[in-house]
Amino acid sequence: MPTTPLDPTQAADLQQRAIAAAHHAYAPYSHFRVGAAVLLTDGHIVTGCNVENASYRLTVCAEQNAIAAAVALHGPQIRIRAIAVANLNDTASQPCGACRQTIHEFSTHDTTIFFPGENNTLAQTTMAELLPAAFNLQTEN
Ligand code: THU
Repeated sequence: MPTTPLDPTQAADLQQRAIAAAHHAYAPYSHFRVGAAVLLTDGHIVTGCNVENASYRLTVCAEQNAIAAAVALHGPQIRIRAIAVANLNDTASQPCGACRQTIHEFSTHDTTIFFPGENNTLAQTTMAELLPAAFNLQTEN
């Protein structure tokens, strides 16, 4: 299903909020400071940043923190209209595999993902492109 484009001003605003959140990143190990801003289908915007840990594997990505905060603030029924990811390292970077699955959990056919492309561009993609074979839990009831 085709994705409805997000208004360019809204996309730029979401990117700016992701950059602002990246300034709060706790990244003393990688020095890769990431921020994420989630626009919910009801219009709310929630941000998050990466929080690292001396026990490296306990690190939580910006996207996951933003989505966890969105659930805590607005409830388990949230749906993501768009998410912008930014870093302060001037690096082209897409959400990691784990974050793709986390975004997928709350996505719709319309969810748009904005990320830093090559040469400081704002690139965008869809959930279907980002994670074409997401894990879905099949239960009996
Ligand atoms: N990171 C994110 O916050 N989001 C991603 O999608 C990729 C990686 C963080 C985790 C870690 O703190 C740092 O970037 C380097 O991997």
